[in-house]
Amino acid sequence: MEKILKSYISSQKQPYITFKEYMDLALYHPEFGYYNSNQEKIGRHGDFYTSSNLSDVFGRALGRWFIHLFATCDIPRHIIELGAGTGRIAHAVLAYIQEQDEELFNQLQYTVIESSPFHGHKQKSLLENYENVYFIKDLESIGELRGIIFSNELFDAFPVHVIERKEGITYEVMVTADLHEQLIPLQNAEIEAYLEVLSLDLVEGQRIEIPLSMVQYYRTLCTKITKGILVTIDYGYTNEEWKEDIHRRGSLRGYYQHSMYDNVLQKAGEMDLTAHIHWDALRVNGKEQELHSLSFQRQNEFLLSCGILEELSNTSNPNPFSTEHKRNRAIRTLIEPGQISSHFQVLIQSKNIEIKNNNLFPTTII
Ligand SMILES: C[S@@+](CC[C@H](N)C(=O)[O-])C[C@H]1O[C@@H](n2cnc3c(N)ncnc32)[C@H](O)[C@@H]1O
Repeated sequence: MEKILKSYISSQKQPYITFKEYMDLALYHPEFGYYNSNQEKIGRHGDFYTSSNLSDVFGRALGRWFIHLFATCDIPRHIIELGAGTGRIAHAVLAYIQEQDEELFNQLQYTVIESSPFHGHKQKSLLENYENVYFIKDLESIGELRGIIFSNELFDAFPVHVIERKEGITYEVMVTADLHEQLIPLQNAEIEAYLEVLSLDLVEGQRIEIPLSMVQYYRTLCTKITKGILVTIDYGYTNEEWKEDIHRRGSLRGYYQHSMYDNVLQKAGEMDLTAHIHWDALRVNGKEQELHSLSFQRQNEFLLSCGILEELSNTSNPNPFSTEHKRNRAIRTLIEPGQISSHFQVLIQSKNIEIKNNNLFPTTII
């Protein structure tokens, strides 16, 4: 992959490319890009964990909430998952709904939209026993979207531009053919427009990622939704948080075999690259596309609202590795402050859906 990148950059009119182009190739090159290669990515033998890989309780909590939404709101009985990784959330959601509400399960359609052939293959094999699951490669090939549409850690995997403010000038950070950074005065009008729309003012020395690809995808997504609830689970910052000193150097990182790398211009094609998402970009663009923001919470609060504590079991099984014990431990990891969920937020938006009595979540005993 490194050779391909170097020769691609050398062949350009200018001797550099944007970070967005670098990430497009390093992550999504059809043959050697990270997400298209056959190496394990998620879980113990991969490079990173996601909440769904911890245990099935994450998917079960979502399933519990989805049952509530289908029962209380007029939503088409269709769940659409974007970027489903190994397919473990889909599996847990479907198993839970089948177990709890067979009538709903029999009417339900579940569509996975997944661009990576590697992950598509994994999903198909894990979900092969479900006849109501459909697989689609990209958002473009679907007409309208009606139902519950959700993603977990999709948007943080989108390529980003990188800009930096230095000595009063805003630069775009470029990548040269020897895979080093070069600062070029910002000329991209789309980035300038993004900064203006989001009222993002960089301070001296600040570096930030600009998620134009995410915004483009998200706008297409919003246009396609005609009736539904959109749930985005990810790590990100609000505009206020981007102003904090601790985030002044941006958030672009690499993950390789569970170690974090600040220099993302190494291990191209072997390493996951990720940046914190811009929550305000989703809110502002969603509003323009007639989506209402219903709720924005930390993931642990969201899971408590879904009723995750009702998944706790009072087991007397002496085996500490039994399903019940594993689930109980995972619930604790998912809800305890300072653990995995405190890094994640959940944005819930709706289009043409009435939430009866503002009853977005089931009433649970906490
Ligand atoms: C970080 S992984 C998260 C996987 C999963 N949601 C989970 O919780 O384990 C990102 C997933 O999004 C997929 N992906 C990336 N870009 C995509 C796109 N434009 N359309 C659909 N899937 C995409 C990747 O192949 C991968 O399956």
